[in-house]
Amino acid sequence: MDWLREAERARKEFYTLLAQADTPERLENIRILFMGRRGKVTRTLRMLAELSIEERRRVGEVFNRLKEECEQKIDEASNRFSSKSERGPSFDVTLPGKPFPRGRRHPLTILEDEIRDIFVSLGFEVATGPDVEDDYHNFTALNIPDEHPAREMWDTFYLQEKEQRLLRTHTSPVQIRIMEKSKPPLAVISPGKCYRRDAVDARHSPVFHQIEGLWVDKGITFAHLKGVLEYLVKRLFGPEATLRLRPSFFPFTEPSCEVDLDCLKCRGKGCEHCGFKGYLEVLGAGRVHPQVFRNAGYDAEVWSGLAFGLGLERIAMVLYGIGDIRLFLENDLKFLRSFL
Ligand code: DAH
Repeated sequence: MDWLREAERARKEFYTLLAQADTPERLENIRILFMGRRGKVTRTLRMLAELSIEERRRVGEVFNRLKEECEQKIDEASNRFSSKSERGPSFDVTLPGKPFPRGRRHPLTILEDEIRDIFVSLGFEVATGPDVEDDYHNFTALNIPDEHPAREMWDTFYLQEKEQRLLRTHTSPVQIRIMEKSKPPLAVISPGKCYRRDAVDARHSPVFHQIEGLWVDKGITFAHLKGVLEYLVKRLFGPEATLRLRPSFFPFTEPSCEVDLDCLKCRGKGCEHCGFKGYLEVLGAGRVHPQVFRNAGYDAEVWSGLAFGLGLERIAMVLYGIGDIRLFLENDLKFLRSFL
């Protein structure tokens, strides 16, 4: 047996294992493997008895040296471990921590939550409807039959499938879904996304948000509508905010109106912010059309109601002084961080 080569091989193995020993437990295992009672070095030293005196001296010296060397290295390594743990953690606890960025609500979510709270404080409930709608709920039940020219106002994205569902163009179909499910009286708002085939510019986006409102009871008049909406804008914009109701047309309300908010920047004089109109169109509204009640299975002779649909982006733009609707979609952190 080539004892010297054996010794060299054992030394190499020892150093390889030592380099990987990263815990005191592993170090102890190496000690046992080489210097324990059945360890490699110990066993060899024990075998020396079988050798001639001459060889015993020569080989014994080599292995005894190896044993000392290994013991010394193990001691050194174990000192490193214990001095490390005595020193405490190996990092500087006084260094400033790594920044941990906190997420926050999107400005449209902030506004939606605020409007939601205002309506809930008035006793309205909150409901949601599907973004992918059928033609019946998005149009027909809202008194917009096939071929009705008003459909063009709400041109949209159709899904390529047999029953021809579509991305809803407004939150008004939720009115029908609510009435199909519940009995009057009721007061509900429904926030959500809407889609239209609009080209993107500073004021238009193919995806935007609305909040629909529906209040059905006996004897609901236009005065209730005006009262609710005025309460909303004064809570949102302060006591000076004023509304203007402009006669308009929607197939699902009669009479219908569009509601303008006096431009808070120029107070009605006309400025860049309001496109020199002095006001901003923020919502459509009216008294629920009797045909809509009939479509939903309500007795139109007994029940009356008011409905409105407000554009969330429009209101956010006025409230936060934002000139471009695209900012809501671009996820520019500088923009998003400016809202608490
Ligand atoms: N759905 C209409 C739109 O998107 C807005 C609207 C008008 C909603 C009148 C209503 C309403 O509930 O009564 O243009």
